Amino acid sequence: MPAAGRGERLGAGIPKQYLPLLGRPMLEWSLAPFLADAACRGVVVVAAAGDIHWSALRARLPRPVREAVGGATRADSVASGLAALRAARAGDDDWVLVHDAARPCVTAAEIDALRAAVGADPRAAGGLLALPLADTLKRGDAAHGALRSAGTLSRESLWRALTPQMFRLGALQRALEAAARDGRSPTDEAQALEWQGLAPRLVAGEATNLKVTTQADVTLAEAILAARGAVAARPAAVSGVRP
Ligand code: C5P
Repeated sequence: MPAAGRGERLGAGIPKQYLPLLGRPMLEWSLAPFLADAACRGVVVVAAAGDIHWSALRARLPRPVREAVGGATRADSVASGLAALRAARAGDDDWVLVHDAARPCVTAAEIDALRAAVGADPRAAGGLLALPLADTLKRGDAAHGALRSAGTLSRESLWRALTPQMFRLGALQRALEAAARDGRSPTDEAQALEWQGLAPRLVAGEATNLKVTTQADVTLAEAILAARGAVAARPAAVSGVRP
């Protein structure tokens, strides 16, 4: 789980992956379905160098989690996490799921659907959760003052890439190494595989699996988690002097 982004726009000086949602850090929500999944044999969290929030969260997770140090780009952070899996003796053919720390509403059902679809197709170059585009797409043009719609793009065959994305460890490492050698930084793992001429499978995910980027996303994510009956964290007990 790459969780080494700075993402400080949303909160007062706190990286967005630690922003509280119903009183729990976003990263804790994002990790939960993987930690509860017996088929996930190991979990690596990639934290930024100097991250002061990670160790406290790590200490209260329900099972041990490995850690790795993030890099300048998301791809560097993912590569660092994969190296940690190697060090933990994961092999070329082991499956790896990469999930954004900023997607706290992913469900076990989505993870199962991805695993079933990709696992059922042994020749597949892995796969990713994705959503077909529902909106009409406009090209914005501000060349003559006010921003105007300068055209409509076809949305046919267009999908939004979500996470998790699932690949064989060896294939993903080779693809990320090749991208780095070529001086290119993929914005998701599937792109690195596509640059190798491979075509990962698209597996339908849920619209609720949003990436938290804006304050409106925080509101939506909390509403989604609350609607599932997710329990808000109890406020920490206040110790000390009684009133
Ligand atoms: O910035 P963005 O929301 O696209 O980041 C997606 C995920 O990648 C987040 O979980 C973020 O913490 C992670 N990331 C990372 N290392 C970076 C940049 C982003 O682990 N250098």
